[in-house]
Amino acid sequence: MELSFRSHFLLSVLLLCLVHSTAFALKKPYIVYLGSHAHGPEPTAAEIESATNSHYDLLGSYLGSNEKAQEAIFYSYTHHINGFAAILDEDQAAEVAKHPDVLSVFLSKGRKLHTTRSWHFLGLERNGVIHKNSILRKARFGEDTIIGNLDTGVWPESKSFSDEGMGPIPGKWRGICQRGIKDGFSCNRKLIGARYFNKGYAAYAGLLNSTFYTARDHDGHGSHTLSTAGGSLVPGASVFGYGNGTSKGGSPKARVVAYKVCWPPLEDVGCFDADVLAGFDAAISDGVDVLSVSLGDEPAEFFMDGIVIGSFHAARNGIVVVSSAGNSGPQPGTVLNVAPWMITVAASTIDREFTTYIALGNKQHLKGSSLSANELPSNKFYPLISGADAQAANVSAAEALLCKAGTLDRKKVKGKILACLLVDNKRIVVGQQAALAGAVGMVLANDEANGNDVVADAHVLPAAHISFVDGKVLFAYINSTAFPMAYITRVKTMLNTTPAPFMASFSSRGPNIVEPAILKPDITAPGLNIIAAYTLAVGPAGQDFDKRKTPFSAESGTSMSCPHVAGIVGLLKTLYPSWSPAAIQSAIMTTARTRDNKLEPMLDASFAKATPFSYGAGHIRPNRAMNPGLVYDLTANDYLDFLCARGYNESQLRLFTNETHRCPKHFKTSDLNYPSITVPDLNGTMVVTRRMKNVGTPGTYSAHIKAPAGVSLSVQPQNLKFEKCGEEKEFKVVLKPKVAGKPVDHVFGKLIWSDGVHYVRSPLVVKHQ
Ligand SMILES: *[C@@H]1O[C@H](CO)[C@@H](O)[C@H](O)[C@H]1NC(C)=O
Ligand SMILES: *[C@@H]1O[C@H](CO)[C@@H](O)[C@H](O)[C@H]1NC(C)=O
Ligand SMILES: *[C@@H]1O[C@H](CO)[C@@H](O)[C@H](O)[C@H]1NC(C)=O
Ligand SMILES: *[C@@H]1O[C@H](CO)[C@@H](O)[C@H](O)[C@H]1NC(C)=O
Ligand SMILES: *[C@@H]1O[C@H](CO)[C@@H](O)[C@H](O)[C@H]1NC(C)=O
Ligand SMILES: *[C@@H]1O[C@H](CO)[C@@H](O)[C@H](O)[C@H]1NC(C)=O
Ligand SMILES: *[C@@H]1O[C@H](CO)[C@@H](O)[C@H](O)[C@H]1NC(C)=O
Repeated sequence: MELSFRSHFLLSVLLLCLVHSTAFALKKPYIVYLGSHAHGPEPTAAEIESATNSHYDLLGSYLGSNEKAQEAIFYSYTHHINGFAAILDEDQAAEVAKHPDVLSVFLSKGRKLHTTRSWHFLGLERNGVIHKNSILRKARFGEDTIIGNLDTGVWPESKSFSDEGMGPIPGKWRGICQRGIKDGFSCNRKLIGARYFNKGYAAYAGLLNSTFYTARDHDGHGSHTLSTAGGSLVPGASVFGYGNGTSKGGSPKARVVAYKVCWPPLEDVGCFDADVLAGFDAAISDGVDVLSVSLGDEPAEFFMDGIVIGSFHAARNGIVVVSSAGNSGPQPGTVLNVAPWMITVAASTIDREFTTYIALGNKQHLKGSSLSANELPSNKFYPLISGADAQAANVSAAEALLCKAGTLDRKKVKGKILACLLVDNKRIVVGQQAALAGAVGMVLANDEANGNDVVADAHVLPAAHISFVDGKVLFAYINSTAFPMAYITRVKTMLNTTPAPFMASFSSRGPNIVEPAILKPDITAPGLNIIAAYTLAVGPAGQDFDKRKTPFSAESGTSMSCPHVAGIVGLLKTLYPSWSPAAIQSAIMTTARTRDNKLEPMLDASFAKATPFSYGAGHIRPNRAMNPGLVYDLTANDYLDFLCARGYNESQLRLFTNETHRCPKHFKTSDLNYPSITVPDLNGTMVVTRRMKNVGTPGTYSAHIKAPAGVSLSVQPQNLKFEKCGEEKEFKVVLKPKVAGKPVDHVFGKLIWSDGVHYVRSPLVVKHQ
């Protein structure tokens, strides 16, 4: 799976091309969002029909007739989300947007998709043995929970979805197992449901053939993410023998459901908002407890975004939505899925590496990472050439250094180890180009932005991915001698590596550019070289050229870290079925750690100290999350106050919820009772309010502060006494810029409430105005 999320521009180009080449000139698929339904959570057939008819009536009043509206509408969202998807032209869309019942109208945009050792690293087990204090045992392996994911579908025959030893399907399940056209698809007591949604995709791609009428995963991404969240135990899982161990999901006894909303990318994007919303609406009414959503694109205003709208309705129905932060790091301001009603997950390393060494002719050794199945044909040094020196006649050396298609001269490359510079994240594709050019091996060196995180990929030739620093050594050696030589050793699995975790460079970073008062990402979890179930429809390189097949594959991305958190949420849901999504999010965030396995502050991929813009509250610590002491809880009302503060008026709020809500006079977005505290515009003395709920034993908690640089900060009151479980107490944080040395950029601190047993920690983020 490609890791890049960088193509909003491409998408706009795509829209234009597609639109001009289709029959309905200048018409495009739009979402018309109407908020909540007037009917209750389990609508009757008559209520659903009346909801659909109201959509026809509303649109019909603009298009001239009800029939025209029926023709234009290709989805009516009738269960929880109120709205429809329709093919409209720009003028029609603008007119409809003025209707008083309409909250937003936006293009159905395309979005991108963003093992064995990671649970050991997270403390759920010790070398495969699950100890008695593990949240896994305490939460009965997540057996009461239903986890859904919106992704590329599922490979139902994977052993990760075996239902051996599982009891009857929980009574709360109301979904279906949608079979496609000759797809041989079936569900069982583990994989209890599946559905596919393709009309939003068809609105761009045109007529679809039978391969688009199935929930079967032809990509691998969906099987990987779903098995990471809730896969069964599968002993002896490995990728070509590497990383051999028992594969399992975070909630290995949970039931899982696949909502296929992602299809083969059209110019990079394959998951369209219209399908994503249909997936959410179905998942909410099917009765899932947790939704894992490893996809996204450019951040948009909250209610102009299918994932944000879908997760708003999911959270209102008690479903915890976990999403990926995106893979556009390390640049600031790249984080996606930034609404406060979802848990946004960054990606970091674990303490396992798939290591290979590159021996250079001058006796230097460089450490690389790989999961290549093959070794160099014989145990000897090979000539080494840089892409720049192997340039085809019609390209520059700088261009050839990237080893892209059509830039290399086969005659110069043949039989050699090729050294290439990585400027994006299409690592496997570079390997393929090297192989096509006749190289016997490849060394792929990070550019400065890609930093130190090296990814083990199932390359099609012997290969090693090395850091930026090592890349400089490599290219200097090539320059230093007329006949550079090298050797690549076979891959070794190394455990207990340090430092770990550190942040992946690709993981998208804060600040949150849509709502600066909410810190995003929220948390980090393992996302590099994660081994989990795969599809047998394509090879592990995920590209047509790869003819190999493997039931498990190693993948990297925030797509992989997201379902780790979803799996842990599944355990917490089993333990605490009555906790709100916000309480679960708070428990996960306030118990996270910010130090690595050397007990040093967690590092970024550049090996500089990482900040909350990389990891949010820190690295997830599941065993602590089951006993947080206090939580920052949120109710539906809190979200509405937050929407007031974002400028929605009371008539719009009525549409969101079908209820009357009075906007409070003094409520800032930074007052939302979120487990992190962000003040993006400190100017004079400012006060932020929070409310803690006791979910443990009675006790007195006192505040410990590490104030951000240049800010003087106090907490009132300093102590909170809780006499019973469920009790709530308010406190205020008073912030003031220090007169001298007012910093211009963001500054970070923390607030910890502790009773001596629990440490309820929140990151503090401040920017002076
Ligand atoms: C929604 O609002 C309408 C009109 O006020 C009311 O009749 C209906 O009962 C409400 N529905 C729910 C589920 O509260
Ligand atoms: C179905 O369509 C896809 C995309 O256009 C194409 O790649 C595939 O070969 C087609 N499959 C069949 C069986 O027609
Ligand atoms: C994985 O480990 C198991 C148990 O140690 C062993 O039986 C199996 O052969 C190993 N598989 C591979 C591919 O190395
Ligand atoms: C260079 O020429 C080759 C054929 O001679 C062509 O395939 C390739 O696309 C060209 N590359 C560029 C960057 O123009
Ligand atoms: C190697 O030589 C090339 C071309 O002479 C130059 O652009 C590059 O900076 C050199 N690289 C190193 C690491 O010295
Ligand atoms: C609420 O906001 C909408 C959209 O900006 C506007 O059309 C409407 O008139 C407003 N309603 C009131 C009561 O202010
Ligand atoms: C900061 O606060 C002062 C006093 O309230 C106000 O006059 C000023 O405009 C504020 N600065 C900014 C940049 O908003």
